Amino acid sequence: MTTTLRSTGLGGAAPDEIERFYDEHAYPPPTVLGSVAPRPPLHRRAAHHLIWPRRPMPERRRLLVAGCGTSQAVRHALLDPDAEVVAIDISTTAIDESRRLAEERGVRNLTLHRLAIEDVADLGADFDQIVCTGVIHHLKDPEFGLRALRKVLAPDGAITLMVYAPYGRAGVYLIQEYCRRLGVGTSSEDIADLVATLREIPREHPIGRLLRTTRDFSDDDALADALLNPRDRAYSVPQLLGLLADAGLRFGRWVRQAPYLPDCGSISETPHSRRIADLPPAEQYAALELFRGTMLRHAVIAFADDGQHPDTTAAEIDVTSAGAAEWQPIRMPTARIITERIPPGFSAALLNDAHTDPDLVLFARPEELAMFDRIDGRTSVADLRAGAPDFLRRLIRHDLIVLDASAGKGMTQ
Ligand SMILES: C[S@@+](CC[C@H](N)C(=O)[O-])C[C@H]1O[C@@H](n2cnc3c(N)ncnc32)[C@H](O)[C@@H]1O
Repeated sequence: MTTTLRSTGLGGAAPDEIERFYDEHAYPPPTVLGSVAPRPPLHRRAAHHLIWPRRPMPERRRLLVAGCGTSQAVRHALLDPDAEVVAIDISTTAIDESRRLAEERGVRNLTLHRLAIEDVADLGADFDQIVCTGVIHHLKDPEFGLRALRKVLAPDGAITLMVYAPYGRAGVYLIQEYCRRLGVGTSSEDIADLVATLREIPREHPIGRLLRTTRDFSDDDALADALLNPRDRAYSVPQLLGLLADAGLRFGRWVRQAPYLPDCGSISETPHSRRIADLPPAEQYAALELFRGTMLRHAVIAFADDGQHPDTTAAEIDVTSAGAAEWQPIRMPTARIITERIPPGFSAALLNDAHTDPDLVLFARPEELAMFDRIDGRTSVADLRAGAPDFLRRLIRHDLIVLDASAGKGMTQ
């Protein structure tokens, strides 16, 4: 593990308010990584083919964690010891804490730089994958930052990007505005007073659900990150797709797509399901964000938009085509089978523990459950689809499997 301290660029100006903020309120709050350990090979394969169904697993891959905060870079280095992980952040506290954690865990495949995303080209390297979560929406010029990241993507490289979403965070923006009007700062007294005040907030307030259910309010630094952040904007689906296009990126897929699809979850039971399905994909996603109303963030996988990256995991993959016969489905590691309290005619409910919407359940009939049980990363589509041809497609759309299409004749849409 090596650490480089570089000046943060940003024109050599005085520290940006965001840099000062995260030096004082590092995110996530100093962590003990606990039981993070190398991912089993099948989980690594699932993570790889979620992004690149057709691309064989490389022996080594270069991963950039952009705006790594206190623990994300170390987590990635531990999960994937075969990756060369490079991580950058403008906050000295974030880099120091990452270095401390990396030393504590004996991490050897991580290089840390105190560097702004806007200056990422100074690394003089390119990357197969860039992970940038919870950062771009804090930049002065998000498009500029994203474009800088896009320029250090290797050919066929992918960016995993997470940004805030506006409607689910409406309560956060109400309280941010409330705090601005009262001049609430980030001193411990101000935060203690705010915590005491929030205890009395009406239960029906739009922030009520978040206060009760998310870890964003679990301690002072997390609360400051959510409610007292000096710069924080959110992107609706159309705004995010616009941001990607403006930065020279192409939408690949949602990290978890089922919440955005009209045939998954409760919307599929409504008369509008068909009507939404008739829209172009981008319009479907926008409609689902409005229907769900509570999305807090969007996590998306994007590729450089220069026409050289045919890989796609968009939801429409055709598993019934002749070319699909040799592909190997892999279960998502977070997929779970429930067999209690199942409606008549079905044997199980299949769900992905990483979903936050409780309606995203796929009920399986006996023959479908038998097929799901046989998905082990080796059995081919041809062997599986015979019994339940449409079920593989539904499993993909519900984020329960991904396809390894690297061995077959290639992916046809
Ligand atoms: C909310 S934290 C997210 C940390 C981490 N990505 C995660 O998901 O745990 C945002 C991080 O972005 C960093 N950051 C903000 N602006 C940045 C910039 N222009 N360049 C690099 N890092 C930046 C902050 O210092 C902070 O550590």
